Amino acid sequence: MELENVKKICVVGAGNMGHQISLKAAISGFKVTCTDVSSETLEKAKKFTELYLSESIKKGKFGEVEVENIVKNIDFMTSLDDAAKDVDFVIEAATEKLEVKRALFERLDIVCKENTILATNSSFIVSSKLADATKRPDKVINMHFFNPALVMKLVEVVKGPHVSNKTCEITMGIARKMDKIPVKLKKEIRGFVVNRILDAINNEALFLLDQDIASFEDIDIAVENGLRHPMGPFKLMDLTGIDLAYLIAMGIYKETLDQSEKPSPMVAGKFALGEWGRKTGKGFYKYD
Ligand code: 3HC
Repeated sequence: MELENVKKICVVGAGNMGHQISLKAAISGFKVTCTDVSSETLEKAKKFTELYLSESIKKGKFGEVEVENIVKNIDFMTSLDDAAKDVDFVIEAATEKLEVKRALFERLDIVCKENTILATNSSFIVSSKLADATKRPDKVINMHFFNPALVMKLVEVVKGPHVSNKTCEITMGIARKMDKIPVKLKKEIRGFVVNRILDAINNEALFLLDQDIASFEDIDIAVENGLRHPMGPFKLMDLTGIDLAYLIAMGIYKETLDQSEKPSPMVAGKFALGEWGRKTGKGFYKYD
């Protein structure tokens, strides 16, 4: 398959990342099927899409006809089989659990066309952990977007040892077609480039909070004004999801049994309380 042949994309998972990846792909001219097991999550994604597009008309970003075409480009559906059966490229953005992703890739391998590329948006589960759930390991790759996916330009593309040059090239090309800036990682490493650096910042921020050196608000103010980051680490954790931070740290801890990788008590406490950030209305901060 060549890049020009990629016309139809399926996004699996309509949550924090998936709904915006779907919309960005539809805006970029791809036909998109967005699927999720939860009809409630799909409904939210649909509402977000409608609101975003109507706001975009008001902002003068798109015209009415353009918006009509974008809306025509995207279909929401709960059936994974229906969503994936005739697409050229899949972007999986489901929950960060290995067993869930492996089951999805196994199914996608059965349902999808022979030459369909299966990408995962994960940055903590490297694609070699998913590739052997399929009979097309050369076409299984990490394609990692950043939150909010409609806005953030970067996409990390990882050429694991099993990934063909062609798959990597097409994935980089699709990112460019979606108006993103792709970077290629030559080897697999958990967290890739950005989340490894972000993790170091978050761990230090949580340590400072835990030691009562400063409040989380002041740590955010310090990072925003001392490093010119657009958001301090606590605002960012609220945006990306404290549940995600917990699940990722727990996944690493289970794999390495390294105590220092365990989720911080603060993150574990908020996870248990359901205070997962913006998506639940409360994390470190409160949201309307
Ligand atoms: N979803 C979609 N669009 C959003 C948005 C959201 N949650 N928040 C803001 N936007 C859009 C606005 O609509 C606006 O669009 P416009 O220019 O077309 O009108 C644009 O972004 C700018 O928004 P604002 O003026 O309201 O606010 P800011 O200028 O403060 O920008 C921000 C908001 C883009 C979120 C900025 O604060 C930022 O860049 N924050 C850091 C984000 C970041 O670091 N993300 C990476 C996280 S790590 C990650 O994702 C990895 C994963 O594996 C965990």
